[in-house]
Amino acid sequence: MISQSSELALITGASSGIGRAIAERLASQGKHVVLVARNRDKLESFARHLTSTYGVRATGIACDLAEPDGVHQLIAALVIEQHKPTMLINCAAVGATGAFWDSSHAALSRMLLLNTDAIVQITRHVLPHMLAINHGSILNVSSMVSAFPVPFMACYGATKAFVSSFTQALRQELRGSDIAVTELSPGVVLTEFQQAAGYTLTDTERNSAMTADQVAESALRALAQRRAVHVPGLLNAIAAFALALVPTRFIAWCTARFMRKTGRAKLQAASRIDVLRIREARHKDIAQMSE
Ligand SMILES: NC(=O)c1ccc[n+]([C@@H]2O[C@H](COP(=O)([O-])OP(=O)(O)OC[C@H]3O[C@@H](n4cnc5c(N)ncnc54)[C@H](OP(=O)(O)O)[C@@H]3O)[C@@H](O)[C@H]2O)c1
Repeated sequence: MISQSSELALITGASSGIGRAIAERLASQGKHVVLVARNRDKLESFARHLTSTYGVRATGIACDLAEPDGVHQLIAALVIEQHKPTMLINCAAVGATGAFWDSSHAALSRMLLLNTDAIVQITRHVLPHMLAINHGSILNVSSMVSAFPVPFMACYGATKAFVSSFTQALRQELRGSDIAVTELSPGVVLTEFQQAAGYTLTDTERNSAMTADQVAESALRALAQRRAVHVPGLLNAIAAFALALVPTRFIAWCTARFMRKTGRAKLQAASRIDVLRIREARHKDIAQMSE
């Protein structure tokens, strides 16, 4: 039997990790879902699973939100299918490690489009309906790193700072309405994120990491409670509180050291090669001068 719920949740990044776990939980509550990511096969089989397990309408819309017309394709599909979400979970994002000057312009543009512009455009599309019925909720997935600069993940950190700032501003603009706006700022979560961003977790990070399901559960509770910011996990919440007391310049310095130490700066090999090249060039110069 199909759920009689009037709630429809639009979830980006729903094919894996936190987005997928949130979609599963919402479906288990009887809410209908529209799932967005690039991988069509994953979305379709997940949608079939949600419908057969929870009796909800589940639709997959495959589109690349990092492409300049990706959001337009999504919005066109929503309009054609007459999907009017009452919940929006902006979860899709990618990270990338390494020195800023080594990143390609194309990769940076894709990250900025996905992590910031897509959130703005999708939110702008769904809000008029929420305002018209004076009902809705928006969960924007940021990160604990939104609170400080992240050397060797400079643009990722900056996109998350954007998400946090945008979310808190929007929340104030919507005060007095029945639309909840919550920022979710997780610490380390065991998902495909790290592999996609080009690094592996240290043992300490892995041991203290949360699962996507744990994050999804506490995030949806925080959204229902209309919390402004939610940092899942007690240790993460304490760390976030403590970090807010430390000058961001010092945190940036410590983060740069950590990124170099864990190989995420990806500088060691390059800098060794540079040193060798400089030495080689000097030897050649000296040899030519002595001829
Ligand atoms: N994992 C962590 O430690 C951690 C910590 C703090 C914050 N976060 C945040 O949590 C959110 C979810 O990340 P996750 O950990 O669940 O990572 P994940 O498992 O890699 O999931 C990312 C999701 O985004 C989708 N996606 C990626 N590129 C896309 C594109 N161009 N267009 C449309 N969809 C795209 C992916 O599906 P396709 O590949 O099929 O497109 C996938 O469904 C992100 O906002 C991330 O910044 C994660």
